[in-house]
Amino acid sequence: MDKSAKIEFNGSSYTFPVITGSENEEAIDIKNLRSEMGLITYDPGYKNTGHCISSITYLDGENGILRYRGYSVEELCEKKSFLEVTYLLIFGDLPSQNQLEKFQNDIREETLVDEDLKQIFKSFPKSAHPMGVLSSLTSALIAFNPQNETKISMTDKEGVTADDKMYLSTVRLLAKFPIMSSWTLRKIKGLPLNYSNNNLSYTENIAYMMFAKPNQEYVQNDVIVNALNTLLILHADHEQNCSTSTVRIVGSSYAGLYASISAGISALWGRLHGGANQAVIEMLELIKNDNSDIDKYLNKAKDKSDPFRLMGFGHRVYKNFDPRAKIIKKAADQVLNDLGIDDPILDIAKSIEEKALTDEYFIEKKLYPNVDFYSGIIYRALGIPSDMFTVMFALGRIPGWIAQWKEMRDSNNPIGRPRQIYNGPTHRKISS
Ligand code: ACO
Repeated sequence: MDKSAKIEFNGSSYTFPVITGSENEEAIDIKNLRSEMGLITYDPGYKNTGHCISSITYLDGENGILRYRGYSVEELCEKKSFLEVTYLLIFGDLPSQNQLEKFQNDIREETLVDEDLKQIFKSFPKSAHPMGVLSSLTSALIAFNPQNETKISMTDKEGVTADDKMYLSTVRLLAKFPIMSSWTLRKIKGLPLNYSNNNLSYTENIAYMMFAKPNQEYVQNDVIVNALNTLLILHADHEQNCSTSTVRIVGSSYAGLYASISAGISALWGRLHGGANQAVIEMLELIKNDNSDIDKYLNKAKDKSDPFRLMGFGHRVYKNFDPRAKIIKKAADQVLNDLGIDDPILDIAKSIEEKALTDEYFIEKKLYPNVDFYSGIIYRALGIPSDMFTVMFALGRIPGWIAQWKEMRDSNNPIGRPRQIYNGPTHRKISS
């Protein structure tokens, strides 16, 4: 029997259908709440609001489960490349060898970068934060791809909503975003800008573009490539988080893919979201420079009158553990060991985790290390400056944003437009 939920208000009762997902998640379908009852829901931060039906990523926060298109992230990290996972997210299935080769080659076809885009990049001051630069450059890509990105019809599948154009926009972005990201890193490091090496695999090429030094033969370090592969897969999608919801909501107005993803990059930048990886390292440095006084900072985090929060701890959805954090913690140990790096910050991070996990405050509030707690330690070991950490997150998240945007557009959902409860002044007149 179909399930339903009854809501009583002002002496009347109304029945609403309950939707059940493939993993038995249940939601009251309140699409007709306002027309039936004259009511809206109030849910700041959308803590209880589902805004779409999606078949991309499944996340069970109570049991620490994360799956892309049904495959667990643990298994994907172990057995698949980031490019295969990218294909999986965007097209729904893991690619065959032929499909993968075609996808890889189509991306390689798009690795040339317009000199005018380079000029735009060069005009940013060296002090510009890489996330601002990347958001701007992604938006600027529209100017170099106007046919696809600006002509989006509501009635026909035109512009980027047409399957062939969507594919072209997808491979272009997957080709150009790593180049633009590597440029931001190279500018910070004072290195000349680099281009794609199309003899390499997708992730190998990212490492090459970021780390190759002028006048030195580039020798690939597999520890770095494997670490990048794991990190990029773990960041590839995370269902309806702040930046992904932003991408969907911007796209729901029929803005193009690149405009929507540019907005997603800005949303990711914030410290409560992807920006936390940079904030974690800054916090760990602060603690190290303050006599490694971990207890002091745990107490600050617990003190309601102190705005300090333990960065890299807590999650809107995970209330047991974040499966990504488990994998990254193991990877951090492995990478530092393989690269022969002894970073005191890793020990501080582990001590914080150990203490927090036995502290009543963190237990009661179900606060655990999230994906950002250990990722910065790996990035640092790879020689990536902290300003760039959130860019690394964005690099991984591009396929998820594309997949979510595509699903949103194909579903033909209405424009995203929440309501509000107004509590400002009632009607008043200007006195003179
Ligand atoms: N340190 C100390 N206390 C915390 C922390 C923390 N990191 N996180 C949550 N709390 C407390 C809050 O003060 C709140 O306490 P209260 O109930 O007494 O008011 C309670 O735990 C619930 O926290 P909320 O902020 O209401 O939870 P929400 O789901 O809105 O926020 C968030 C989740 C933003 C991740 C939060 O835990 C946080 O700020 N963490 C630190 C930043 C961070 O690591 N962000 C990255 C998240 S992962 C990602 O986006 C990729």
